[in-house]
Amino acid sequence: MSTKLNIGLFGFGCVGSGLYKVLHETQQIKANIERIVVKDRSKKRSIAPELYGFDKAEILENPNINLVVELIDDAEAAYEIVTEALRRQKHVVSANKKLIAEHLDELIDLAKDNGVSFLYEAAVCASIPVIRNIEEYYTSDVLSRLEGIFNETSNYILTQTDAGKSYDEALQEASDLGYAESDPTLDVDAFDAKFKLCILVKHAFGLTVEPKDVFNYGIRHIKQRDVRYAKEKGLKVKLLAKAVKLNDKLLAYVAPHFIPADHNCYAIDNALNGVTVEGLFSDEQLFKGQGAGSLPTASAVLSDISALLYDYQYEYKKSNVLTDLSLTQDFKVKVYVGSTDAKRLEELSFLHVEENYQSADYYYKTGWIRFEDLLPLNLNATADLFVAVLPENEVELASQPKVEALNYV
Ligand SMILES: NC(=O)c1ccc[n+]([C@@H]2O[C@H](COP(=O)([O-])OP(=O)(O)OC[C@H]3O[C@@H](n4cnc5c(N)ncnc54)[C@H](OP(=O)(O)O)[C@@H]3O)[C@@H](O)[C@H]2O)c1
Repeated sequence: MSTKLNIGLFGFGCVGSGLYKVLHETQQIKANIERIVVKDRSKKRSIAPELYGFDKAEILENPNINLVVELIDDAEAAYEIVTEALRRQKHVVSANKKLIAEHLDELIDLAKDNGVSFLYEAAVCASIPVIRNIEEYYTSDVLSRLEGIFNETSNYILTQTDAGKSYDEALQEASDLGYAESDPTLDVDAFDAKFKLCILVKHAFGLTVEPKDVFNYGIRHIKQRDVRYAKEKGLKVKLLAKAVKLNDKLLAYVAPHFIPADHNCYAIDNALNGVTVEGLFSDEQLFKGQGAGSLPTASAVLSDISALLYDYQYEYKKSNVLTDLSLTQDFKVKVYVGSTDAKRLEELSFLHVEENYQSADYYYKTGWIRFEDLLPLNLNATADLFVAVLPENEVELASQPKVEALNYV
């Protein structure tokens, strides 16, 4: 891009103010913030009042602004802003995973029809450069698996429950440290990780998956007895987002997993994120880094802004390869289910039970279930029941009824 980037910035919270700082500390970038639009007129701010306003038209109708950076915390308002900006032929950089996961194809088409770029590296695991790597580095490889810790708040909580704290204590601590929102639902019930997974699936496998079609179950109901079970077996509890290609089917879900010490995510603790990308030729690679925070997230936004200076656009190369790939829920998975109420365990029908433990105040079962049987249970709202996936590869049922273990790919 020969012209300079004149930025209209929406939002001056954690990430917006971080971007302001990193842009001012970066000398070599040909971009400046021309206008900032925020929402709350009563808030005291660290910047001069003449730099910001409250009307989105101040950015969207300003012909000097050729890039809109959308960093607000309201996905519906962001939809209005981003779609209008693209229609007005302004490039857009966003960090809003909910907006992107829910409207990805529409936004891709809008950007294409208007000849502008729509970039969003910060929306998936903040500072970890995973989207552009999938787009560029793995172009010719066949990706077979994406797996990782995509949510810093839940990972922080699980690190603390692993250290012996209760879920409530750990959540309070996450909140005190600024990791958890006052309503932590999106994080602890795994919606946030699911939005990120949907975005990555588009880039890695060329498949559009609607968030509503992807199972998300979080960590809200974990108890110390579940942590103890994992520890006794040398395992750790992690909330994993996962997409695995099994022949022409893709399974994708987010759920707590009990993982062994040699798993890539075992040592990824506290607010860190990790993403494993597995390809047919490249084998397994782990990206690890800050999954949130003002400056780390702003660094990913800055990287998108820099990429725009050389006219970068995502090409969605995997979408251009003709495949019959489709999302499946027809697979089996090995799980642990624990409760203080024996009747609760009956809510899950097992294909095959491996362990069935009963004491006066704690019951658990392990074994294979049909993944489809989890879907109607509304586990995020089911107290006194904790389900975790055990370390065995999922097995597809429909096309491979007798196979006990499949290699990924
Ligand atoms: N925080 C992170 O570590 C992180 C990491 C990755 C991605 N993200 C994503 O980045 C985005 C911003 O997150 P954040 O943590 O910076 O949020 P935040 O700290 O809550 O700040 C939100 C900002 O958006 C502004 N805002 C809200 N509605 C608006 C509207 N309709 N018009 C104009 N401004 C509006 C707020 O204005 P006021 O200042 O007037 O209230 C505030 O400045 C979200 O999509 C989030 O998911 C955040």
